[in-house]
Amino acid sequence: MNLTERIAGTRLERAAEMLIEGKLIAFPTETVFGLGADATRSPSVARIFEAKGRPSDNPLIVHLASVDQLPIVAGEIPEVAWGLLESFSPGPLTLVLKKQPAIGPLVTAGLETVAVRIPAHPVAHRLLELCRLPIAAPSANRSGKPSGTTWQSVLEDLDGRIDGIVCEDGCWLGIESTVLDLSRSAPRILRQGAITHEQLAAHLKMDREPAFSEPGAILSPGTRHPHYRPQGRVQIVDPMNLPSSDRSRAFIGLDPPKSNTLSWVRIVHDVPAYAASLYEFLRECDRHGIEEIYCQSVDDQGLGRALMDRLERAAGLK
Ligand code: TXA
Ligand code: MG
Repeated sequence: MNLTERIAGTRLERAAEMLIEGKLIAFPTETVFGLGADATRSPSVARIFEAKGRPSDNPLIVHLASVDQLPIVAGEIPEVAWGLLESFSPGPLTLVLKKQPAIGPLVTAGLETVAVRIPAHPVAHRLLELCRLPIAAPSANRSGKPSGTTWQSVLEDLDGRIDGIVCEDGCWLGIESTVLDLSRSAPRILRQGAITHEQLAAHLKMDREPAFSEPGAILSPGTRHPHYRPQGRVQIVDPMNLPSSDRSRAFIGLDPPKSNTLSWVRIVHDVPAYAASLYEFLRECDRHGIEEIYCQSVDDQGLGRALMDRLERAAGLK
């Protein structure tokens, strides 16, 4: 068991120095916390998989401070990538591109492609600028659990398993980035996220929205594994028609539920607020030993589509 150093947001030089030494540092991004290490050092990257208990066939996203660093990690950068980066970066868009040899097989799980993102969170951005390294960073949670959107939640999973954490919050989006594969002939969304399929379709001037990968396809290795699962059983519900149960129950959604036997109710005012609070709500349910977690379904459009994807995975439906 190592000691995990708590680093204030005002001491990012310390966190950068540790990354340069090959250490593992958790830091906030606008989506969720990332667990970062130098993407060019295999032993450090191997420790990320160990700390998370992550299957080695699930590749990592490489984070950069700016587009100038892109040629270090990506081999072929199509014109369309530059246009997308100009419109949506820094931000919650991850592009899958052909990789450069500087990025080893552990990061990419043996694929010839690399996933790249330039985060917008000022803490993440400053840290990446200070260390000037490509930083491999999956979400900072034990594999299979809901991602961490507060530093306390990250420590709940990873205290003693990682070298340091930047103790600043502000994961304002709350669900992970959109992953878009540009390494093939047609752009393909591998994971829904805060940059919506409608935005991408409009930008790419496609009549149809960018295709989704078929479930379980090798293109999107991470989506095969269980994700976002709390201890309690998640069910996607209509608040007017909750299932009955003798077990302890909690609800999150846009409309007040028709039941007065719930231990805990969380009403969110819109879909972005729902997405931003979901993972912390699921973790909070576990802290209180809630057995049945009811989550209201939302319209399958815009950010709602990404939210439904997370809810379906949390419920074990995908
Ligand atoms: O918002 C986010 O993307 C957060 C923050 C920390 O940046 N990171 C994150 O990482 O969600 P992670 O490891 O939890 O999810 C990475 C996803 C997985 O579904 C993985 O399979 C996919 O990206 N991925 C990574 N590299 C890939 C590649 N070369 N080809 C296809 N999919 C890839
Ligand atoms: Mg993850």
